[in-house]
Amino acid sequence: MTSNESRTALVTGGTSGIGLAIAQRLQADGLKVAVLDLDRPQARGVAREQGFTFIAADLSRREDCRRAVDETVAALGGLDVLVNNAGFQHIDPIADFPEDIWDTMLHVMLTAPFLLTKYAWPHLTRSGQGRVVNIASIHGQVASPYKSAYISAKHGLIGLTRTAALEAGEQGFTVNAICPGYVRTPLVEGQIADQARTRGLSEQEVEQKVMLEPAAIKKLLDPQDIAALASYVISPAAWGMTGAVLDIDLGWTAR
Ligand SMILES: NC(=O)c1ccc[n+]([C@@H]2O[C@H](COP(=O)([O-])OP(=O)(O)OC[C@H]3O[C@@H](n4cnc5c(N)ncnc54)[C@H](O)[C@@H]3O)[C@@H](O)[C@H]2O)c1
Repeated sequence: MTSNESRTALVTGGTSGIGLAIAQRLQADGLKVAVLDLDRPQARGVAREQGFTFIAADLSRREDCRRAVDETVAALGGLDVLVNNAGFQHIDPIADFPEDIWDTMLHVMLTAPFLLTKYAWPHLTRSGQGRVVNIASIHGQVASPYKSAYISAKHGLIGLTRTAALEAGEQGFTVNAICPGYVRTPLVEGQIADQARTRGLSEQEVEQKVMLEPAAIKKLLDPQDIAALASYVISPAAWGMTGAVLDIDLGWTAR
């Protein structure tokens, strides 16, 4: 077993929310970290401040996925840990759901994790302690109305996780999914504000009565809570955990 100091990680969507917390945590664990995000000054700025290598890429574009893996390996000297985290939400009933947004969501949240895993495969195999961590969601396991593309992509990501885990076992690396409940990030802050407007509720009421109503613990998660779990999954101690679908959801899916 090599120490974390010689390990490298690529975190997609790593300049905001959960991805940023995971990138910070893996860096604190001693890994060299690259973050992939859309080419925006804000994203570049976060990466620079944090000391991450920045990989500018749009995961809705197939060619960017190949380039992202190549650039990461060139910059860091290898790829031991791939965290497929980037994602976004769009809420509309199926009857009105914009078809172009459906295509983009499926590409960013399901096809890109497949392509990045495929292109990273030889590097993960060479690693000897490779890890793929897919950030799915409670909505990878249960459904809610008006989120058809998101829920379809996340259910698919769990299927990809399990299949890749079975194929990766012989190659000596693991593939797991983390399924968070609601986490306080820019993505969720946006949803809270939208729902408060459309339902005529206060933001506090949306949190408690809409988002956390099925939860056992009535409090939003912090991105650092998800990062702590990711840190364990990528650690050498978790060598025997693969194909796992790990809930960290305040008891949301216990019902
Ligand atoms: N926040 C939650 O409550 C929650 C719960 C369960 C799962 N998740 C999942 O966690 C992941 C991170 O969510 P978050 O809440 O931190 O969101 P966020 O909006 O804070 O961060 C998402 C990141 O993904 C990047 N991204 C989006 N589209 C991209 C593209 N085409 N190419 C490259 N990068 C792109 C964004 O630029 C951003 O940096 C998502 O996959 C989300 O579905 C979030």
